[in-house]
Amino acid sequence: MRLKDKTAIVTGGGSGIGRATCELFAREGARVVVVDINAAGGEETVSHIQKDNGSAVFVEADVSKEEDAKKIVDAAVREFGGVNILVNNAAAFILKTLPAVSDEDWARIIGVNLRGPSLCIRQVVPEMQKAGGGSIVNISSVAGMIALPSHMPYAPAKAGLIMMTRSLAQELGPHNIRVNSLSPGGTLTPAVHETAREWNMSFDDLVKGVGQETFLNRFAEPVEIAYGVLFLASDESSYVTGANLVVDGGMSAH
Ligand SMILES: NC(=O)c1ccc[n+]([C@@H]2O[C@H](COP(=O)([O-])OP(=O)(O)OC[C@H]3O[C@@H](n4cnc5c(N)ncnc54)[C@H](O)[C@@H]3O)[C@@H](O)[C@H]2O)c1
Repeated sequence: MRLKDKTAIVTGGGSGIGRATCELFAREGARVVVVDINAAGGEETVSHIQKDNGSAVFVEADVSKEEDAKKIVDAAVREFGGVNILVNNAAAFILKTLPAVSDEDWARIIGVNLRGPSLCIRQVVPEMQKAGGGSIVNISSVAGMIALPSHMPYAPAKAGLIMMTRSLAQELGPHNIRVNSLSPGGTLTPAVHETAREWNMSFDDLVKGVGQETFLNRFAEPVEIAYGVLFLASDESSYVTGANLVVDGGMSAH
């Protein structure tokens, strides 16, 4: 029960790493606000949690819209009385070479992957202040730390999220709000199927090839990332802020 009596908002909770995080948080005693643009996925996560006797609600929202960010925090306050934890996990996956990147791609990636977390943070801070503090975890990527082929404009947005984390850790420290990022490496989620399609590769070849870039010679399971998020979200990391926890099987350590 590492999150007993805490309320957590997890964006992108309808799939992959976000779903694994919601389910783990609920098992650890948190009340979870599952946020996703995909209602079917989000509702499914909530039903898994409720079947396991956990506490969760779903909010359909697009994190790139200010009014939706407000709706998410309002729902947390209405349903559970406040917010202690925010996990900015939702992301759009556009992984291209620069000539293939359109203006729309830039707008979407910056809107969802970089501005989105800032909108949710802005809405959640007053509630965390009321609660005496809180923990914010921004899910970045190994692609925000090392150069990988065909990762525009995703990689610069993820690098920006690591720097935004540090800036806001400084800004919000005096309010006892910790802000950290977590950078996963290749993780077995539906997003990887999408990437394989975009790159005209088979899923198996992609997973094998990228897996070989790690010291452990494999991709992560979503729950292996979720355990890192749990550490940063819980009071066990009470003196950790402005950090980037790398959970990548050694990929960036070469
Ligand atoms: N899977 C990997 O290999 C990998 C590696 C490094 C980093 N990451 C990061 O981990 C996080 C989770 O990725 P995943 O692999 O679980 O992806 P996923 O596609 O399985 O899940 C992402 C979820 O975010 C939701 N989403 C997308 N845009 C949204 C929006 N505007 N508003 C609300 N929800 C939205 C999607 O509907 C989906 O349910 C992302 O931040 C991603 O960049 C993933």
